[in-house]
Order: sequence, then C-alpha cells, then structure tokens
Amino acid sequence: METFDQKLASSWFDVQSVPQTYVHPPEKRPGNTIGVPPCKNIPVVDLGNDDRSHTIQQISKASQDFGFFQVINHGVSKKLIDDTMSVSKEFHAMPRKDKIIEGSKDPTGSYKFYTSSENYANEELHYWRDALAHPAHPSENNMQFWPQNPTRYREVLKTYAEEVRKLGSRILEMLAEGLGLSKEFFNGGLSEYPRLLSNHYPPCPDPSLTLGLAKHRDPSLITILLQDSEGLQVFKDGNWIGVEPISSGFVVNIGYVMQMISNSKFKGADHRAVTNSRAARTTVAYFIYPSNETVIEPAKALCNPPLYKSMTFTEFLQYFKSKVANDEELSKVLSLSGS
Ligand code: OGA
Ligand code: NI
Repeated sequence: METFDQKLASSWFDVQSVPQTYVHPPEKRPGNTIGVPPCKNIPVVDLGNDDRSHTIQQISKASQDFGFFQVINHGVSKKLIDDTMSVSKEFHAMPRKDKIIEGSKDPTGSYKFYTSSENYANEELHYWRDALAHPAHPSENNMQFWPQNPTRYREVLKTYAEEVRKLGSRILEMLAEGLGLSKEFFNGGLSEYPRLLSNHYPPCPDPSLTLGLAKHRDPSLITILLQDSEGLQVFKDGNWIGVEPISSGFVVNIGYVMQMISNSKFKGADHRAVTNSRAARTTVAYFIYPSNETVIEPAKALCNPPLYKSMTFTEFLQYFKSKVANDEELSKVLSLSGS
C-alpha cells in the first residue's frame, strides 16, 4: 500500500508513460485539444478605465455569454502577483514531508494538502495535480494554520488575500449593479468566507490522456484565478477552449452560487485543467464563498419566476458534493421546475 507522500503527483510524475489509473476514457480525456492555441474570445476587461457603466456592461455580458472573463489594470500590483506565484511554486517544490506538515496543522481539516481530488480514496481515476487549500481571510484565528514554510508564505499571501478581496468586492459590486441589484447586495454573509487553493500540475509524459482537474463548475459566488501558463479550458458551445494566460491578469469565473442568485442570468461555465509535457504549472484560485448558514436563493427582483430552491450554503454543498459528477442531476435537485 502506497503512503500518502508516495501518492503525491509531485513524487512520481517523472515517469515514462501515464499510469493506468490516470488514463481517462476517450470522451473525457483532452485528446486533440492539447496543443490547440488558446482562444481569444473570452472577454478581457480593463478595470483601469473610467467608464464604469461600460465596464459593468462588459462584465455582465461576459457573465451571461461565457461565465468567464479576464481582468487587467485591476489594481493588484505586478510585484505582489509575481511574489504570490513564486511563493506558491516554492511551496510545491518543498520536500514532500514538509508540505504534508504544513497542510495538516488544523484539527478541523479546513486546511488541506492533498493530491488528485479531495476524494482520492473513492475515485476510480485520479488527476495529475497536488493542491493546498485553506481559508483566505487573514484573521489571526485563520492564519495560525497557514503554512510557515516557505518562510515568506504568510506575509505574501496575507497581502495577496487582502488585495484580491478588495478586487473581488469591486467585481461583485459591478455584477450586482449589472443585475439591477443594489451595489451592496453581495456584501456580508454571501461573500464572507473566501478560500485560497494553490494547484500544482507537474509535467506529464502524455497530456492528451489525463486531466489535472475534472470538468466542473465552482461552487462559489465567483472565483478569481491567477495562472501564468496554459492549461485552463472552458466548455463553450460543445467545445473545449483554452483560456489564454495574460501577464499580471486574473481570470474571473461565475460560480454556481452566483448562477442561483442571479436566477440563471449569469451562468457558471464548466471548466477543467489539462497538463503539459514541458513544465510544471501552478495556479492560485481565490474562491468567494458564502458562510455556511447563509441562505442561497434567487434574488427577489429577478424571480420571474424563481428557477432555484432556497437553501443554506451548507445544504447547497451537500447537493453539490453528491451530484458534482453530473450537471443534469445537480440542476434537477436545485431547480424548482424539476427539469
Ligand atoms: C479550480 C480551477 C483551474 C486551473 O481550482 O477550481 O478551476 O487552471 N482551476 O488551475
Ligand atoms: Ni474551477
């Protein structure tokens, strides 16, 4: 029986061929989407311009059409972005025992270092990634379990979490306005519980056969992703399209909670991560989640009629986790029409 440290993708990735338990069935594997240049259609929104109502229009349209957009001139400094990427790469480059120690300090299990998915023990096939996940709000209570190694981790990620939180609030205000809701609509419980996730995808001998991350929709309000190389793909009109990395830009995507609150006006898009054969890829996702007891339901002003049931975020997550592999079933249990 392999021990956890031996299972880590970063422990054995340097193999000649993809192990059978990482080879996905033909309809799920990336196949010939590997090597296709990324798509230029996903809107890139310049947050530095003065025309706020135009920006609101742009991000609202992108949230309807794609569930994805990228932002530039967003106010988070290049230095902070570069430091965050470096320190995240340093984390994944540490000896495995050190990573395991850093990811297992919290007795409640809300801080995790894992490989493949959170469900390694029960999944049939595995994914080519390691991941570190933890609460992002830099309060003293949370930060006591943040990694202390690399030594710069806490300092850099604390500032990053603060800056990205501000950016997230700005984007949420504009999305609220785009929906015709008050600017403050998403303040408070709906956006109270951000989490950070650092994904690490080691190089892979045959990226066409395996996945770094399965097709999914984030169970968040929105997600703000930092990527510095190709690997993120979005499912659009029956095709997988690559999201082009933009230097110092962020990818923003609509999560399932936003889809429900907006009564499907904004759509969460299915996406996945593929690997490459050249170099390891690291990404840092900042998920904006509601607190557990917050009620998730379509905003009253958009209910004509409501498409989703009302439920707490905890109940939503239970449905989400049990149906995550099947979008149709998920929308059945969450929607009021039963379709
Ligand atoms: C995620 C995600 C994409 C990537 O962590 O939910 O979609 O490219 N990540 O790492
Ligand atoms: Ni995602």
